[in-house]
Amino acid sequence: MPVNASDALSLAGRDLISVRDFTRDELIAFLDEAEAFEYYTSPILSGMVMGSLFFEPSTRTNLSFSSAMQRLGGSVLGFADSKVSSTSKGESLADTVRVVENYCDIILLRHPFEGAARLASESTRLPVINAGDGTNQHPTQTLLDLYTIRQKRNALEGLKIAFIGDLKYSRTVHSLIETLSHFDNELFLISPTSLRIPPDFLEELNANGTVYHEDEDFFSIAQDVDVLYSTRIQQERFPDAVEYEKVKNAYRIDRETIEKLGGKATLMHPLPRLNEISMDLDDYPGAAYFDQVRNGVTVRKAVLSLLLGKTRV
Ligand code: CP
Repeated sequence: MPVNASDALSLAGRDLISVRDFTRDELIAFLDEAEAFEYYTSPILSGMVMGSLFFEPSTRTNLSFSSAMQRLGGSVLGFADSKVSSTSKGESLADTVRVVENYCDIILLRHPFEGAARLASESTRLPVINAGDGTNQHPTQTLLDLYTIRQKRNALEGLKIAFIGDLKYSRTVHSLIETLSHFDNELFLISPTSLRIPPDFLEELNANGTVYHEDEDFFSIAQDVDVLYSTRIQQERFPDAVEYEKVKNAYRIDRETIEKLGGKATLMHPLPRLNEISMDLDDYPGAAYFDQVRNGVTVRKAVLSLLLGKTRV
């Protein structure tokens, strides 16, 4: 049964830790609800507070959640740099969360360790949103990515979708690929050999019957893609700086790349970008990375209202 707006309250009080915790219908319900939030700014979250705990740097996730909360009438407390919190005195994450739950109604957490958001959710009665945990998951980025794909291609299935760059450490890629395995698309996974997607993701694609191709050379496998999802080589995750130096300039998408692809691909990137996408592509009609940024606020308005059980009026 599809989840519709009247069923949306079933999402109230839930955590958003991993895309694995949600059915395909529930993921689509988030997207449908987000559409209704495009221009919606009534103060339905008035009196509610989001605790925003960032143990890793962020521009988009941190500020777009704050924007979404405030545009719906709520308020935000927290820190963008854990060095100013009592973590620097040795306080555990579990204790920090147990303390912060007294000040707010929902907790947003970014942390460098895989599993930190799950641990936090087990330490509090409040809903916890994973704003990125190490190389593991970034589920709200996935929702805004899906939202952007549906907006630009009018479909979530029957597409050729290429991922290019650091597929080993990129949590945005991991979350999105896992989610796309619920939909019928053909995937192209392009990376240096040392940055291939970890085997457990391939096992999941195999288990779900998703057709995929892996290669180091972009053009040998992906000539006619609908979506090209580029990602930064994640320097901060490399244990060895020499290994980073070897691959840091592995791929650069420019006008020539896009023309070779037929000039119709939707070009996505979670940002920040370094040199993976030439700035002269910013006015290419298929460039969607700043639309992803804008969609981040829309999708996060829907996420906050659904998890807080405050529906549109
Ligand atoms: N896409 C993304 O997660 O960006 P930030 O690291 O700036 O939040």
